[in-house]
Amino acid sequence: MSLHKYIFVFCFLLLTSIIVSAQNNNQVIRSKTVWNDDKGSHINAHGGGVLFHQGRYYWYGEHRLPKGDAPSGGVSCYSSADLCNWVNEGIVLATTNEAGHDLERGCIIERPKVIFNPITGQFVMWFHLELKGQGYAAARAGVAVSDSPTGNFQFLRSGRINAGVYPANMTQEERAFIFDNDKYKEWWTAEWYRAIDKGLFVKRDLESGQMSRDMTLYVDEDGKAYHIYSSEDNLTLHIAELTDDYLHHTGNYIRLFPGGHNEAPAIFKKEDTYWMIASGCTGWQPNEARLFSSPTMWGPWTQHANPCIGTDAAITFGGQSTFALPVEGANQLVIFMADVWNPDNLIDSRYVWLPVEFQSDGTPTIAWSEQWSPLDFVVQPEPLFSLFEE
Ligand code: DGJ
Repeated sequence: MSLHKYIFVFCFLLLTSIIVSAQNNNQVIRSKTVWNDDKGSHINAHGGGVLFHQGRYYWYGEHRLPKGDAPSGGVSCYSSADLCNWVNEGIVLATTNEAGHDLERGCIIERPKVIFNPITGQFVMWFHLELKGQGYAAARAGVAVSDSPTGNFQFLRSGRINAGVYPANMTQEERAFIFDNDKYKEWWTAEWYRAIDKGLFVKRDLESGQMSRDMTLYVDEDGKAYHIYSSEDNLTLHIAELTDDYLHHTGNYIRLFPGGHNEAPAIFKKEDTYWMIASGCTGWQPNEARLFSSPTMWGPWTQHANPCIGTDAAITFGGQSTFALPVEGANQLVIFMADVWNPDNLIDSRYVWLPVEFQSDGTPTIAWSEQWSPLDFVVQPEPLFSLFEE
């Protein structure tokens, strides 16, 4: 073969391999479409959150089963170096066939989040747990640990939160107030709302512990971790501090917006402000996102206008918040993560991931975009490696 032919064949092979690798190496995020993992299956990690650990992203979420099967298949994990291409790491917390176990097949596991504890070296997962056959009545939080981000996680326990302890922001007068429960049998009246505001349901659940449904975790710069969950029959958010090993609640907690009906909390910090995005309570149907801010985790929290902009902004682009992910090495990028639920086939629920933009006064907004790339936010040259290193 002549030299020209060699060069031609070499260039042809090089071009082909570049095209093939570009096809296998997706660099964009297209919300609401099917997101295939490395095995070609739609990612099954709903209501989830992402942990960044030693240069890799770990996405944990609800592993849903086909309709007619059990409501929960446990918690799945996917890993990625670039937030666009995900390797299926399997189910890292499984349900069990053991009768009477908290995780007995038939239970509901929702909104798992994982954080890393530098003191114990353990990965700590908290999740919303409903016991088999009880619908959404148990309203518990479960906790599990693992030595590796890809599991298996060992289930420790589940239960209600901070039994016997009043929230720090409930006044002495509210704590001492004795409710005439007969007056509040009818829900949604003005009188009932006033009683909720004063802590009717906090008192109802004081001995057994506070209800915990939709939830997230947040680790602050000082290493303190917080569990943020919908409590009091989804009427009121609570922020509860975790112990230094992240395995228990310290008893220090507050109520946020009593009677505000906030679900699906997601928290991030920008400069000195904590921002929280949540949804209203409309089951699997999308509603308008809510935005709150505070100078400290303990408040005072203030509500702002809907942060979403553009097509379907009034229904959070068809999704419901689940997590806010600050991306290291990418110029101040925070990714807003949401679920587009398909209640008829939860496995096929889709994802909305969009970059949070910050206005000149620091207020976050989220604009709809058909597709975008985390690469657009990478600061050149050095952080490229921390974000995309294998
Ligand atoms: C809304 C919650 O945000 C979801 O996680 C799930 O619990 C559904 N409700 C169930 O209807």
